[in-house]
Amino acid sequence: MASYNIFLLPGDGIGPEVTAEVEKVAHVISGAGLAKFEFEKGLVGGSAYDAHGQAISEADMARAQAADAVLLAAVGGPKWADVPYEVRPEAGLLRLRKDLGLFANLRPALCYRALAEASSLKRELVEGLDIMIVRELTGGVYFGEPKEITNLPNGQKRAVDTQVYETYEIERIAAVAFEMARKRGNKVTSSEKNNVMKSGVLWKEVVTDVHKKSYPDVQLEHMLADALGMQLVRYPKQFDVIVTDNLFGDLLSDVASMLTGSLGMLPSASLGAADASGKRKAMYEPVHGSAPDIAGKGIANPIAMIGSFGMALRYSFGLIEAADLIEKAISDVLAAGLRTADIKGDATSSVSTSAMGDAIANALKKAL
Ligand code: NAD
Ligand code: IPM
Ligand code: MN
Repeated sequence: MASYNIFLLPGDGIGPEVTAEVEKVAHVISGAGLAKFEFEKGLVGGSAYDAHGQAISEADMARAQAADAVLLAAVGGPKWADVPYEVRPEAGLLRLRKDLGLFANLRPALCYRALAEASSLKRELVEGLDIMIVRELTGGVYFGEPKEITNLPNGQKRAVDTQVYETYEIERIAAVAFEMARKRGNKVTSSEKNNVMKSGVLWKEVVTDVHKKSYPDVQLEHMLADALGMQLVRYPKQFDVIVTDNLFGDLLSDVASMLTGSLGMLPSASLGAADASGKRKAMYEPVHGSAPDIAGKGIANPIAMIGSFGMALRYSFGLIEAADLIEKAISDVLAAGLRTADIKGDATSSVSTSAMGDAIANALKKAL
């Protein structure tokens, strides 16, 4: 039986609560003899800062580099609002993405049948929704230099963030989006603001070139990012794959999450380039944050985290059937009426994080 080393980074806030539920699901899969998982735990974010004054230690970075996959829950929270910028919790997450070269962030927004009523949009707009947002993750304004606040002679301050994209960065994320589209609805919507930003002009030009050269069979459209935000809530089912930059991808995926019922539903996969043997570095992380407002209460929704583990099975371990069965277990449990408190809708009472995790693990056990 194949054995995989997973580096688990529960992080802060609800992070440890939702990761505990992943371990239950992994246990069911290894119990069925499909694969063995060895979980090694590390610290990231505020918890790492509290332990050793850094948002992630060098030793944990080395473990992340060596692992078959990293599973990260969430970082941040008000407790660390005043720590120096360089060691703020989010710096640990950003360093992992950058140093592991995880340029492609896949954020599927899937509306489970039972949750069509839970979306903030009308049922008919979201029923059957299946969008894949492909977010560029190691470039753009997140990492561009200079990034600084300087003091001006007149006593004012000046803050600068820099949006930078080079051709190769756009080419490789466009290729990921087109490949993905071929396996789905064969349509890519590329989004930027070429009416305002030079990086948008280059983005559109490069995506158009990649399409023409290598993927003319895929339907390509371009949409300005503000208009795309509007279209996402007007008629979301027009989209198949959306490819966009780091910042727009961050914003648009939070918007897309509400189409599915809750931010607590959206998983993600952050992938690097494949090496000669086809292996890629990968980190799996829910789209949501550490949810400080509900941390410690045992009511967080673990589905985004469990779904992220499902994406690890799909994209890192080749366990496609098991990944499909995790999605089916989630779907079945929702169909049976189980809801955590964040999923608004017709549920009369909500269940705890751990009851939701147990129910999904049990449903999976029956299906395997
Ligand atoms: P958030 O995603 O943590 O929370 C936004 C809202 O969604 C809150 O009301 C929260 O209770 C709810 N929510 C989020 N996930 C949920 C879940 N699984 N179950 C139930 N409800 C859920 O965003 P925020 O409050 O803007 O940020 C809090 C902290 O998290 C910040 O420090 C931010 O930087 C950080 N953050 C981290 C990540 C990450 O680690 N990947 C992602 C986003 C935000
Ligand atoms: C996300 C988060 C992160 C981001 C933060 C915590 C750095 O919002 O993963 O969506 O902006 O990428
Ligand atoms: Mn975000």
